[in-house]
Amino acid sequence: MTYDKEKYIALINDALETYLYSVADGQDIVLDAMRYSVRNGGKRVRPMLVLEFCRVCGGNVENALPFACAVEMIHTYSLIHDDLPCMDDDDMRRGKPSCHKQFGEAYALLAGDGLLTLAFETLTRAENIESSDIVRAVKALSSLSGIRGMIGGQVIDLLSEDGKPDDALLRRIDRLKTGALIQASVRLGCIAAGVTDETILRAADVYAESIGLAFQIVDDILDVTSSTEMLGKPVGSDEKNDKVTFVKLLGLEKCKALADELTQAAVQALNDLPGDTAFLADFANALAARKH
Ligand code: IPE
Ligand code: IPE
Ligand code: MG
Ligand code: MG
Ligand code: MG
Repeated sequence: MTYDKEKYIALINDALETYLYSVADGQDIVLDAMRYSVRNGGKRVRPMLVLEFCRVCGGNVENALPFACAVEMIHTYSLIHDDLPCMDDDDMRRGKPSCHKQFGEAYALLAGDGLLTLAFETLTRAENIESSDIVRAVKALSSLSGIRGMIGGQVIDLLSEDGKPDDALLRRIDRLKTGALIQASVRLGCIAAGVTDETILRAADVYAESIGLAFQIVDDILDVTSSTEMLGKPVGSDEKNDKVTFVKLLGLEKCKALADELTQAAVQALNDLPGDTAFLADFANALAARKH
């Protein structure tokens, strides 16, 4: 079976609908807010990585769908909370009013909480995956999205506002706030395929670390060079909040060069993976060249 981006996105969107509609007896307003934020737009970068790593490592893509959806739920919750007035205070997301603009702050907060917990419930619904591998997935996703991962990065990002950017600080922020969930995605793909080989897991990590940092650098570039229409979220958010970014440290040209260099490192790491890695090489290049 071969897959392309469109096929993956269709599979992911269908599965997300299933998991978001199988929540019985939920409170309608928060469920609506959860569905609104998950459903509208989104490039589905992280769930695609889950599915493709699973495929490359010899696993069954359909079996990995609960893992893919779990990562997208965590990612969407992080965006809902990231946009709140107490965080980045951004009014638009994925081409529509941010969750708190549409549903109010309290329900946006709860929608984020609801997605975070639903993510772990969804992991446990993976059929045809060994329960020991589901436990590995829970460990990976919880540690990489929590205080030692994505949340930790958001904390340092906030603490660093108005500060002076330096290379080590920026790498730390980006590795955690953005890289960690990308790393969780590739790990979960490997776990869904039952991979335990350290060389493969290490190569997957290097790929994820490289595209993860490049991804945030490109996000910061687009915040300066793109438009709200193109991104579906406000541009100029980083300047408004006096964020430390690589753009601030290096300027646009050097940032682009660094993103390209990291992308090459990611492609290089693919040599240690089994299977056909052409999709993952193209994917890394497309992320570096993306316009939204
Ligand atoms: C935005 O992520 C937040 C960052 C970590 C930079 P994406 O650019 O993947 O957002 P969606 O999912 O496509 O909306
Ligand atoms: C977001 O970084 C990282 C998250 C964990 C959500 P940004 O604050 O730059 O993401 P955008 O630009 O709002 O999507
Ligand atoms: Mg932010
Ligand atoms: Mg933000
Ligand atoms: Mg940004």
